[in-house]
Amino acid sequence: MGIGVLHPDGANRAIWPSGSSHVLLRGFSIDTRCQGQGIGTTATGAAVALAQRAYPLSDAIVLTVHVDNIAGQRAYARAGFAHTGRTVPGRTGEEYVMSRPLHPAKASTAAMR
Ligand SMILES: CC(C)(COP(=O)(O)OP(=O)(O)OC[C@H]1O[C@@H](n2cnc3c(N)ncnc32)[C@H](O)[C@@H]1OP(=O)(O)O)[C@@H](O)C(=O)NCCC(=O)NCCS
Repeated sequence: MGIGVLHPDGANRAIWPSGSSHVLLRGFSIDTRCQGQGIGTTATGAAVALAQRAYPLSDAIVLTVHVDNIAGQRAYARAGFAHTGRTVPGRTGEEYVMSRPLHPAKASTAAMR
């Protein structure tokens, strides 16, 4: 039905300039017969939850999405991803870099210290 890869510290410096601990979500795709039914949105949330469990020490989850891929951008936004303001060249054109904190509670606790 779908596939995606979680790659710890897998982003290059153009995508994730700080180099801080992160998880790259890549190769994310839903079977064409199943698209447009909310599965991509649900699966993105599941990928975030999996990354939270598997990588408790990582700060963020990051991905790139083609500028014309509105369905992808909306699915990712619904799962808490936001545009970083960066773009990178992809195989078929410019891609937005989107990310979200992986452990928001930990980040806010650290900010209070
Ligand atoms: C991008 C992709 C993962 C999204 O999965 P999906 O199951 O089709 O997405 P959803 O059904 O959850 O819809 C996500 C949002 O996109 C919108 N959407 C769906 N198809 C759309 C289309 N063709 N054009 C514009 N918006 C679209 C939905 O309305 C929804 O927005 P909303 O929640 O604001 O209403 C899927 O289409 C896909 O695998 N595409 C091919 C590969 C790809 O582009 N992968 C992403 C690489 S970064």
